[in-house]
Amino acid sequence: MASVDDDLLTALIGELGLEQKVRLLTGADFWSTPAEPAIGLRRMVLSDGPSGVRGQSWDERDPSLSLPSSSALGATWDPAAARRYGSALGAEARRQHADVVLGPTINLHRTPYGGRHFEALSEDPLLTGELATAYVEGVQAHGVAATPKHYVANDAESERFTVDNRVDERTLRELYLAAFEPVVTRGKAWAVMSAYNAVNGPTMSENPLLAEPLTGEWGFDGLVMSDWGAVRTTEASATAEQHLVMPGPVSAWGDRLVAAVRDGRVPETVVDGKVRRLLRLAVRVGALGPGSPADAGTPADAEDGPVLARELAVAGSVLVRNTAADRTGNTAAGSTGELPWNPDALGPVAVLGHNAALARFQGGGSATVRPAAVVSPLEGLRAALGADRVRYRMGAQVAAGVQPFAPATMTNPVTGGPGLRAVFRDADGVELRAEDRTAASLVWMGPEVPDGTDRIEVALRWDTPAGAHRVGAAAAGHVRLEIDGVTVLDTAGHPTGDEGPGAAIFEAPSVTAEITVDGPADLLLRFRPSVGEAGMPVVALTVGEEIVVADPDAEVAAAAALAAESDVAVVVVGTSDRFESEGFDRTTLALPGHQDALVRAVAAANPRTVVVVNSGAPVLLPWRDDVAAVLIGWFGGERFGEAVADVLLGAAEPGGRLPTTWPATGDERSVLSGVPTGGVLTYDEGVHVGYRNWLRHGGTPAYPFGHGLGYTTWTLDGATVTGREVEVTLGNSGDRAGRQVVQAYLSREDSAVERPARWLAGWAVVDAAPGPTTARITLPDTAFRHRERDRWAVETGVYTLHLGFSVTDTPLRVEVIVDG
Ligand code: BGC
Repeated sequence: MASVDDDLLTALIGELGLEQKVRLLTGADFWSTPAEPAIGLRRMVLSDGPSGVRGQSWDERDPSLSLPSSSALGATWDPAAARRYGSALGAEARRQHADVVLGPTINLHRTPYGGRHFEALSEDPLLTGELATAYVEGVQAHGVAATPKHYVANDAESERFTVDNRVDERTLRELYLAAFEPVVTRGKAWAVMSAYNAVNGPTMSENPLLAEPLTGEWGFDGLVMSDWGAVRTTEASATAEQHLVMPGPVSAWGDRLVAAVRDGRVPETVVDGKVRRLLRLAVRVGALGPGSPADAGTPADAEDGPVLARELAVAGSVLVRNTAADRTGNTAAGSTGELPWNPDALGPVAVLGHNAALARFQGGGSATVRPAAVVSPLEGLRAALGADRVRYRMGAQVAAGVQPFAPATMTNPVTGGPGLRAVFRDADGVELRAEDRTAASLVWMGPEVPDGTDRIEVALRWDTPAGAHRVGAAAAGHVRLEIDGVTVLDTAGHPTGDEGPGAAIFEAPSVTAEITVDGPADLLLRFRPSVGEAGMPVVALTVGEEIVVADPDAEVAAAAALAAESDVAVVVVGTSDRFESEGFDRTTLALPGHQDALVRAVAAANPRTVVVVNSGAPVLLPWRDDVAAVLIGWFGGERFGEAVADVLLGAAEPGGRLPTTWPATGDERSVLSGVPTGGVLTYDEGVHVGYRNWLRHGGTPAYPFGHGLGYTTWTLDGATVTGREVEVTLGNSGDRAGRQVVQAYLSREDSAVERPARWLAGWAVVDAAPGPTTARITLPDTAFRHRERDRWAVETGVYTLHLGFSVTDTPLRVEVIVDG
């Protein structure tokens, strides 16, 4: 990275007129900042984030690596893994000619109902901040900026553009800002994204929290960019520490900001300060000055992305239950539970569940990327065990609405090759552009939509067996569908809920017609999109089939029958993008559809039933004590299925520990609501978030924070504290190598201040062969501070350090003394 010469920046700013400077402060389009050839500044490309780098388009012909969702990264508890994760994204950004990655998302898992929970790391600020810092360092090592988001308290999606989150100073500092602090002060992030929501009155893109603590006390010298479409005023946002408005080219700044400077409402020095930050970012990413590379290409030392995706999915998967239901010789030798299975001795395996075949490998919304290939659990198990040993049945439907046609079932009528043809036409029917695509789920943004587009026509030959089908589209706008020249559908659909730029993608309604075909058929679909917001057209169209299960009970029974005939059963349960996505919160944590009935029936049919949970956030598992094992796989990235096979068959240890408490019913007192009342959401619980609230109210969750099992057993033998250094002796008492996360929580009895019952103060990830070993944990100073009357304070005296393997499993206690 080039070092930044502030005198040079001053000189460059001096070369620009007011209009030129202001122009730089709004995006040139959806994904880039303007170039200014007069000073040698090229455009900078920004890309979502946070679990892949999508690049400037959603086009499947330009695929991107899809890593496991951030909640899976949170579950690794492993800063080294987070650094590799960030580094892979930095390399991916370089490959895609992107300068800025829009991640990590470091809002807290305040409520499990939060729709974007999958995109954030944990309910704990220390765990979030440590992992995010390593992620940022990993990204930026490639000369690519990371953008921790969304600053701050964007912890739920309900009314996300307008909600006013009322959070007291202490709670903000100790929790929500605490997650951002190390990312800025230690990770030295080059950019931060301000949130859509308001905090204590002002919306975040004009909030005083941008100045203090961010650019003031923490010394952030990077660029604050707005969330997409968040800036709605001129003076109020321009006089805040808000530096770049995204996207563009139309924004509330531009001419209006020029006028405000001319009228003396906004000092020109304020504009200069923002330009300075933009240019500083440009220097850092190599976008300014002679010889700046347009991109550095993929770094030679970049890890193999798909291999890393598989490893991280293993490292983040959390085995929350593993009992010896009915042990036989094909459970691996030495195991104390049902898992791992010994693949050499295993008989037929029933793989059940919609998500086993149609895996959710990532969350919905702006985190979406288009990987080259995805391995589902069914495919992963077939590859590991041989197709003959694995029998599949859906059992219960999860993904509802129109699902895209599988690529292998589509023929492009123009090229004769696989896929479809999409043609943009103007109102007179004149062709503006044609694309030959291989996927049936299509998204175009900003300049990708040709000017003057009236409609998009999609043509394909669908290779389908004879019979009745429900076909159509998921799209916001008017859809007309012809099958073999006959119009079968002519209707309009509108998104519900979220009104933002992404609604056309996240919430496109399905419209379908029931048809009967004799076999392969020609489809012609005409789509007239609803008009997007000015300057931000987003057009999304999925062409496909809707599955309708005529008799759900019979489907469950058929799956259970398959389980009864098999040696073991794997049920993959989970959510779909209609239940868990950016743009809305969940209203229930229950698994959608008939999945609970499916698990119960399968477990009754075969005691050796293992459930794999494919969700980005907690879901309810009411049958959890009736199955042999439960593995939480999150949204496991593009190699999810390989990771599931690795873990079930014991090729690898499930390395994860819960980064967030899993409730039992979702309506326990400790579970917080993210739903505003009258536009306001008050964080009444103060510092008692997540496990802290569970401990305060004394409830018992399904699984506590920090919980997770491996395939070996451990003893915790002793601990000594010297200053802030804790040395823990422990032992791997099993007969295979394993991973353990030794966790350290503080508490303070007889405290003069109200405190959480316990709070995480440090941890160590231990990989060890059988035998004794040592873990070292350094307790950070920040673990001992609390916010009091607008400043940090430290209460002297005796703290208790609780050491163990989850927040409620802490057999060791030692004292830590803090002197004045
Ligand atoms: C999201 C951001 C995202 C941006 C660009 C917004 O709606 O909140 O996280 O980076 O869109 O896609």
